[in-house]
Amino acid sequence: MFGINIIGTGSYTPKLTVTNDDMSKIVDTNDEWISTRTGIKLRCLNDGEATWYMGAKAAEKAIAAAGISPEDIGLIIDSTVTGDFYTPSCACVIQDHLGAVNAAAFDINAACSGFVYGLDTAKRFLQTDDGLKYVLVISNEILSRFVDYTDRSTCVLFGDGAGAVVVERSEKLYSSYLFSDGSGAKVLYAKKMFPQHPFRTSDAVDYGEDFTKEDQFLFQDGKEVYKFATKALPTASKAAADKIGLALNDIDWFVPHQANIRIIETAAKNLDIPMSRFIINLDKHGNTSSASMPVAFDEAVSDGRIKKGQKVCFVGFGAGLTMGAVIVEY
Ligand code: ACO
Repeated sequence: MFGINIIGTGSYTPKLTVTNDDMSKIVDTNDEWISTRTGIKLRCLNDGEATWYMGAKAAEKAIAAAGISPEDIGLIIDSTVTGDFYTPSCACVIQDHLGAVNAAAFDINAACSGFVYGLDTAKRFLQTDDGLKYVLVISNEILSRFVDYTDRSTCVLFGDGAGAVVVERSEKLYSSYLFSDGSGAKVLYAKKMFPQHPFRTSDAVDYGEDFTKEDQFLFQDGKEVYKFATKALPTASKAAADKIGLALNDIDWFVPHQANIRIIETAAKNLDIPMSRFIINLDKHGNTSSASMPVAFDEAVSDGRIKKGQKVCFVGFGAGLTMGAVIVEY
């Protein structure tokens, strides 16, 4: 089987930590509500770092752990919905910072599912390009760029962070499943800047009737996202496992998108997998969008929970709506 070998992991989270009690000083909320509805206790929030900088720090650690030099990397894929620039890509800025002079570099946007989309893209590049040896996959997000800190229903959920892995080709077990449902775009979105050219006759852009929120802050229909998410995690995991005839029970670890503990508990019940096999760090980080899976993975690899040879299922969902799972042997 053509698979990938994850040879290095790294992560970076801002030093500024904000507790639920801190959140209760800026919006009408409390630790009890946030903890019981989401499982989140703490989030790290950006305090001046650029998105690319956080990604570069995570990447430096992943490259060091892989024991390769930046010049060996042939491709950099950066998953972000909160890049610093419309252009260039975060991936190019990070490439320069790392000195990865032999890499092609580009960004992808699959929202919170971005890490699995990035990992699967890396695998497909490795499979079709014999000259490609190492791919660096990064997910870096500053959700606090577009979260409205006067809206208690969203601001308590999100945090900032970055994670990265270096992968190479291997004969190890591999499977993936990616799926998108654009009809759900309207339940989770944040608009970009309006066009400002001097010849315009309109001060607004007609986005269509689905996207009526006027400002550029994140809009979320929490209940619709919740419904999608609780189905997405089991659907994507099962679909990826079924493709290679793997029993879910044979997967050692699930690394899910860290959005909400209740979503993960519902998925675990549906999959009939004990919560002890799910890597959870959302209590300390909140939801860091596409960074959540590689950050959780790096923490679990670093503290020895996830060991070489074990089977790992990364599974996520996000705006788009998107979902996806990648199963690898670590
Ligand atoms: N503190 C206190 N009360 C609050 C807060 C808060 N932070 N937020 C909302 N409430 C109130 C609401 O106003 C509402 O009050 P009301 O009954 O007087 O109107 C009450 O709590 C219940 O609100 P619900 O929205 O019904 O709460 P629910 O139990 O559905 O939980 C939540 C809300 C946590 C957002 C849930 O819907 C959820 O987790 N959805 C999925 C969110 C998600 O995963 N998003 C990210 C996905 S993709 C990505 O990562 C970008």
